[in-house]
Amino acid sequence: MALREILIVPDPRLKQVSQTVDKVDDALRALMDDMLETMYDAPGIGLAAIQIGVPKRVIVMDIAGKDEPKAPRYFVNPEILWASEETAPYEEGCLSIPEIYDEVERPARVKLRYMNYQGETVEEDAEGLFAVCIQHEMDHLQGVLFIDHLSRLKREQAVKKVKKQAKAA
Ligand code: NI
Repeated sequence: MALREILIVPDPRLKQVSQTVDKVDDALRALMDDMLETMYDAPGIGLAAIQIGVPKRVIVMDIAGKDEPKAPRYFVNPEILWASEETAPYEEGCLSIPEIYDEVERPARVKLRYMNYQGETVEEDAEGLFAVCIQHEMDHLQGVLFIDHLSRLKREQAVKKVKKQAKAA
């Protein structure tokens, strides 16, 4: 496993649409292992492959609480089969937009289909933080960031702030 560099806004690669994965093989599992290690190191609760510059439809996640055992999850070619009309707000952040947090409103519940680490197709319902996180990460696969859900003014302010941080570092 290896730590990878996380792309930060306004890196244009974050706007790329990621490609469907043909099959889950050892090379893809190695990518997922690297992604998970990079996510834990950051630390974060979700990471899409494009955030380390790999335009594949792959997501890793661990939403276990701090005192709970690690619970890594892997999503290859995830699809949303159904989304609730009911929405819920959540204050989101993103490893590619450090230190920016803002409220985004998304469907409260979704039904998912994806391939797991073994390449098995799984259908699963998501709600709460899981629903927020998978929708946030799936946006990355379309080149969409959570700040794209905010007003133009807030989005521009966020990018400006991140650029300023980068310069100061
Ligand atoms: Ni993100």
